Amino acid sequence: MGEKIPEPFCWDASFEVFYAQLDTEHKGLFKGVFDVAADKGNAGALAHLVKVVVDHFAYEEGQMKKANYENFDSHKKLHEEFVGKIKGLKAPVDDATVHFAKDWLVNHIKKIDFKYKGKL
Ligand SMILES: [Fe+2]
Ligand SMILES: [Fe+2]
Repeated sequence: MGEKIPEPFCWDASFEVFYAQLDTEHKGLFKGVFDVAADKGNAGALAHLVKVVVDHFAYEEGQMKKANYENFDSHKKLHEEFVGKIKGLKAPVDDATVHFAKDWLVNHIKKIDFKYKGKL
């Protein structure tokens, strides 16, 4: 989807949204995907990733809602689509799925989350 995928797959300052809790959670999402990629047959790692994603989206949506953020509805819809996809996964996941998750996260943060910078 365009943005460069870091390898190793770790959060770096280019992903900063400058809200401490959101940046901390984004780091956790990178770690969650990293751990799935490192052990594609690990059902626990996959379940953990789904949990941190769901928890992060709930918090992020709450912050957007509180701020009356203009793009709330379209942003929430993108979250729901991604959750729908990863909830349907079963270990072992394949390389294409790992790539999809990495690509989605990188592009979502830089193209979608970045739009709320300074507005929450
Ligand atoms: Fe988001
Ligand atoms: Fe986010």
